[in-house]
Amino acid sequence: MNKEKAVPPLVEMQGITKAFAGVTANREIDFDVLSGEVHALLGENGAGKSTLMNILYGLYRPDAGHIFIKGTPYTFMSPKDAIAAGIGMVHQHFMLVPSQTVWENMILGLEDLPYILPRNEIREKIRNISSQYGLEVDPDAKIWQLSIGEQQRVAILQMLFRKAKVLILDEPTAVLTPQESLNLFKTIQQMTAEGHGIVFISHKLDEVLSLSDRIT
Ligand SMILES: Nc1ncnc2c1ncn2[C@@H]1O[C@H](COP(=O)(O)OP(=O)(O)OP(=O)(O)O)[C@@H](O)[C@H]1O
Ligand SMILES: [Mg+2]
Repeated sequence: MNKEKAVPPLVEMQGITKAFAGVTANREIDFDVLSGEVHALLGENGAGKSTLMNILYGLYRPDAGHIFIKGTPYTFMSPKDAIAAGIGMVHQHFMLVPSQTVWENMILGLEDLPYILPRNEIREKIRNISSQYGLEVDPDAKIWQLSIGEQQRVAILQMLFRKAKVLILDEPTAVLTPQESLNLFKTIQQMTAEGHGIVFISHKLDEVLSLSDRIT
């Protein structure tokens, strides 16, 4: 067996520690994500799963530890930095703007947008990603008009639109019907087949066992 790692992991977190007033949420955690895998994070309430992933997404700064993306050290000051490095996260409460359309939400917060927005190009790109990953959604629908399952598809689309290579899903099935969960699993399989790495947080042992390549 070749002990050398030919390809560095998409993500490598080393010795991550994070404390909030009086509570240590993460203590010297090592965690990595490989291309093409679903890595499940399993643990009881308050175990520190969301905290660890919020650190990877640039929402929190760790007190100690290091993050490497494909072998290169990174310090994320904000989700913008994490997204630029190919990290995407879908929270249980989606960070979408309800009064705006799907396509408008794709470009929210992006810098360097042209003065005249290439609306049709954006719609076209949404349709392409939708059909590639089974994330059907109307680009012109307003977010508030969509079901929770559809909003989750938009949130995933938004991350793929921004070229996320690693997608963190924090308890994604908690808000889904069984059929929507099955559709999500197909999307996840499509993403891993194309070399994405998925972090899947869930309390449901059966779905973790059937979907995951690794469990931490
Ligand atoms: N912003 C914060 N301020 C203070 N304490 C926090 C904060 N975020 C998390 N914590 C605390 O850190 C610990 C870990 O929380 P975290 O949300 O990471 O757990 P979790 O594993 O995601 O739990 P759950 O399964 O309930 O989502 C908990 O004790 C929580 O109360
Ligand atoms: Mg959590």
